[in-house]
Amino acid sequence: MQAFLKGATVQTSRPQKDKAAAGPGTEKKAKAVPWVEKYRPKCIDDVAFQEEVVAVLKKSVEGADLPNLLFYGPPGTGKTSTILAAARELYGPQLYRQRVLELNASDERGIQVVRQKVKNFAQLTVAGSRQDGKPCPPFKIIILDEADSMTGPAQAALRRTMEKESRTTRFCLICNYISRIIEPLTSRCSKFRFKPLSNQIQEERLLDICEKESLKYSKESIAALVAVSEGDLRKAITFLQSAARLNMDREITESAIIEIAGVVPPKMIDSLLQICLSGTFEKLEVAVRNMVDEGYAATQILGQLHEAVIEHDLSDQQKSVLTEKMAVVSKCLSDGADEYLQMLSLCSVIMQQASQHN
Ligand SMILES: Nc1ncnc2c1ncn2[C@@H]1O[C@H](COP(=O)(O)OP(=O)(O)O)[C@@H](O)[C@H]1O
Ligand SMILES: [Mg+2]
Repeated sequence: MQAFLKGATVQTSRPQKDKAAAGPGTEKKAKAVPWVEKYRPKCIDDVAFQEEVVAVLKKSVEGADLPNLLFYGPPGTGKTSTILAAARELYGPQLYRQRVLELNASDERGIQVVRQKVKNFAQLTVAGSRQDGKPCPPFKIIILDEADSMTGPAQAALRRTMEKESRTTRFCLICNYISRIIEPLTSRCSKFRFKPLSNQIQEERLLDICEKESLKYSKESIAALVAVSEGDLRKAITFLQSAARLNMDREITESAIIEIAGVVPPKMIDSLLQICLSGTFEKLEVAVRNMVDEGYAATQILGQLHEAVIEHDLSDQQKSVLTEKMAVVSKCLSDGADEYLQMLSLCSVIMQQASQHN
């Protein structure tokens, strides 16, 4: 429960042993570093795929000025990396620590935190030059990650702080859902949407890491990484690191990635769907029971079944009945309903729809 004044936040907490640090020579000791941190873009130009944000921020950094910012978009698309890189460019490595406050645990968002930590930090006044003589902006930056998990009253309190301290402080709010930020806050910020990264960009980044870490990998494994992470590069990099650790000297394969990601093997989904379409209820019951017993998450099965059904040769009418049922199942699962029963009820509806067709 404390705010930290550090440049980078460690996202994975598992203890880990890196192989001999084969990465860029920036590491001081052979301490294990999560690759998401190790390969975080160091400057704004390194941020891939978010051209508009990069262009605007570069202009601001050149003029040593910054508006209040609001970054929004899906996870793992470069939001945190971008503001950290911008701050590093603005302040240089030394001042950076004094000038940037990064708050990013959702449980620190009570109204008290905004009133105290943010206010105390915002009220420190700052000089307009760096030790090395370069000009630097006469303000500090407060980064509020996961701002959409702040309560309404905390957001309202933040609005007042933002107004009062506008001379000495810039805020950068980061969130996934802009609709959860109150209007008085959004209207005070320049808003930037971060797009899900394209497959090609993700692939390039992953290949770059593979090379720097001297990994052995199959082509299919990289494609699988991109497929399972759905535009979230953090997820892809984290899976890659896990796979590398588990396969120390062996080649990283597609099935290793699928295993790590907790994805149900596509063959299993296909056969489940096949049973729904032309099997018996008895067989269906066994198949569903096996899947759930093997520990596959029902939400994961649901997501993959959804894709399979959409792609399958069914009528529009059938697909609409099925997706509607899936939405209900999804809600029930998030409310804590029994996974086996929910899966069985979904599959039963697929079965009914299929039999009407024939
Ligand atoms: N646009 C991007 N360009 C380069 N690397 C990225 C980009 N987006 C994500 N990454 C990689 O994914 C990791 C997580 O990115 P992060 O900025 O923390 O995402 P977010 O804050 O949007 O959830 C970073 O370490 C970085 O290596
Ligand atoms: Mg982030």
